[in-house]
Amino acid sequence: MGFDPWNPDFVAYPYRVYDELRRAAPVSYFEPTGQWLIARHADVNALLRDRRLGRSYLHVATHEEFGRPAEPEFQEPFWRVIRAGMLDVEPPVHTRLRRLVSKAFTPRMVESLRPRVRAIATGLVDTFVEKGGGDLIAEVAEPLPVTVIAEMLGIPDQDRHLLRPWSADICGMYELNPSPEAQHTAVRAAAEFSAYLKDLADRRRRSPGDDLVSALAAIDELTEDELVGTCVLLLNAGHEATVNVTGNGWWSLFRNPGELERLRADRSLLPTAVEELMRWDTPLQMFERWVLEDIEVHGVRIPRGSEVALLFGSANRDQDVFEDPDRLDVGRADNPHISFGAGIHFCLGAPLARIELLESFGALLDRAGTLELRREPSWKPGYVIRGLHALELTATA
Ligand code: HEM
Repeated sequence: MGFDPWNPDFVAYPYRVYDELRRAAPVSYFEPTGQWLIARHADVNALLRDRRLGRSYLHVATHEEFGRPAEPEFQEPFWRVIRAGMLDVEPPVHTRLRRLVSKAFTPRMVESLRPRVRAIATGLVDTFVEKGGGDLIAEVAEPLPVTVIAEMLGIPDQDRHLLRPWSADICGMYELNPSPEAQHTAVRAAAEFSAYLKDLADRRRRSPGDDLVSALAAIDELTEDELVGTCVLLLNAGHEATVNVTGNGWWSLFRNPGELERLRADRSLLPTAVEELMRWDTPLQMFERWVLEDIEVHGVRIPRGSEVALLFGSANRDQDVFEDPDRLDVGRADNPHISFGAGIHFCLGAPLARIELLESFGALLDRAGTLELRREPSWKPGYVIRGLHALELTATA
């Protein structure tokens, strides 16, 4: 088996193929998606920082000038929202948008949220343990980051159940060659989400609260699309990956019971353990960039107009950077994993994600005397965003 993102066996364990790519073909052309796969840590890291590549080419050229077919018209409501968020723009627009929200995500601001994050995490974990366990993903991993980011933005309680399905449907478009059905579902979700946020922003303009939507709605220089795009990005990025780091992370610990015992016995390892779980089985396996000027990687010329696929999951297992990379080591000290990206789009929410993960892993270790796997979990079909359907556990106090 080679690189095959639609093959469930590859999705379940892509790491052997990555190993071959890093050794024998660090730059390779993948015909089915027309992308250049980049497998080594040094290259992924360098290309993320290289200004000759961009998240979207549309700020330098039209589809036609770039030699690309235009997106089908029905997708317009989707791209309108997504391309207005900071993740899909370049400087100077990126700098301006990121600056507007970065104040809310500084380590100090985020640290002030820790008591609230802890209270939510312990509440969810206590309920989970009292009932003897259940699906850790649905009952702990999802509600924690969804509640935190919804509270930051000021999404009313009664509307929070809408966020997860909208986000999941939007993410369907990020998979490789999404089906027509997935595309339509993503477009519908983006349109509904956008209408919801426009309405909420209007209400907050009339009667502001102490929340991010109110703060953003008060900024005149932000266009309506930018406001909606920023909120959609924060709400989606603010929980999607955290859910899957929790699920993948616990599944990694169950597959490495010695490391779970080590962590139980020495809780001071929690910070390195969280970083290691993010490295060992990252939920974000690939991020893409467009080539805005010709580049050359290991003697291979990649022309302007090409798309490169940076394989984060592979970079995180690179033997040139990590000692014994396939071993899960909860005490790994030197761990420059790439799971939060690098360069100007480096994850804005990394300090918040770290607090959420430390608090939820910590609460489970503290409050569940035993945690046992009820059945082997299965992977969802997605490769780009890779996570488990469910993680069924039995828990006792
Ligand atoms: C960007 C990963 C949690 C907000 C990114 C990127 C990665 C990433 C890889 C860069 C994408 C690229 O360069 O193309 C993760 C992981 C998380 C996580 C693994 C959980 C463990 C969060 C949270 C938030 C957040 C909790 C909070 C609101 C963002 C935003 C960006 C971003 C706004 C875009 C930054 C920019 O374009 O300048 N994230 N993220 N993320 N993330 Fe996260």
